[in-house]
Amino acid sequence: MKKWFAVIGNPISHSLSPFMHEKWLSELEIDASYIPIHVEEDNLEEAIMGLKLLGCSGWNVTVPYKEAIIPFLDDIDESAKGIGAVNTVVKTKDNRFIGYNTDGFGFIKSLGPINLEDNILIIGAGGAARGIVNAFKQGGFTNITIANRTAKNAEKMIHDLQIGHFITLNEAEAQLNSFDIVVQTTPQGMKNQANTLPIQLNKLKEHAIVADIVYNPLVTPFLEEATKYNARTINGLGMLVHQGAIAFSYWNGVYPKSEDMIDRLTENLGGNYVNR
Ligand code: ATR
Repeated sequence: MKKWFAVIGNPISHSLSPFMHEKWLSELEIDASYIPIHVEEDNLEEAIMGLKLLGCSGWNVTVPYKEAIIPFLDDIDESAKGIGAVNTVVKTKDNRFIGYNTDGFGFIKSLGPINLEDNILIIGAGGAARGIVNAFKQGGFTNITIANRTAKNAEKMIHDLQIGHFITLNEAEAQLNSFDIVVQTTPQGMKNQANTLPIQLNKLKEHAIVADIVYNPLVTPFLEEATKYNARTINGLGMLVHQGAIAFSYWNGVYPKSEDMIDRLTENLGGNYVNR
């Protein structure tokens, strides 16, 4: 039977995953397809039974089902366990369905070469921050600081993941020159959200890496500000592409061309995704 893959979510029509995966499948001459499936909340269990029955070879999971899917899987990998969220389901040879989370590793890959000793500042303590911090931990990084508006949310994350320490946003601003990598994970700067900066960047270390997980717009006010201080800026498109590429490699045993895909999507999105 021809292989097929899917992404489930609600809404799903905006997802860039079908475009990416279809391109990679055809580039690598793999005879398979990848389809978006809109699933209503009440139908999640039936939808998953359907995917299994109809021979889906593996699927991605997006909002709002990354947590809700877990009870319907046979097991979850370490990458998903620490954060309680799955974005990729892999079917094993003996027909078991295992949940992984490739978001955090995808993010780390998008940074390019970095050192285990780098001092890392994460701004925010929501679901995305959890995935990233968990992946840094699994990757052997130890110097992790979390700055967040609400102390108790950051402290809960630090307690759950058993890594990192908390500072306030004001402390982050004041201590900014001690960080090699600064990661913005809050929704600020996203289309239809406040355009304020989570922290001021005037104490940014020369040549620091500054990443924003937002990719709509491609250049957030935070990244725009960071370029004024000669930072190497990274937008959220790299995370999107690499989380997909890692999932693709789990399913197909080969890592697809991610840099080309980042360039292609950047071009397709016209440098500014907001108005599309
Ligand atoms: P996700 O789960 O998708 O990562 P989220 O749960 O909306 O997104 O993440 C919200 C994170 O952004 C939280 O850390 C939140 O801070 P609080 O813990 O104080 O709520 C942070 N955040 C959201 N809006 C913010 C704002 N205007 N200023 C500062 N932090 C903000």
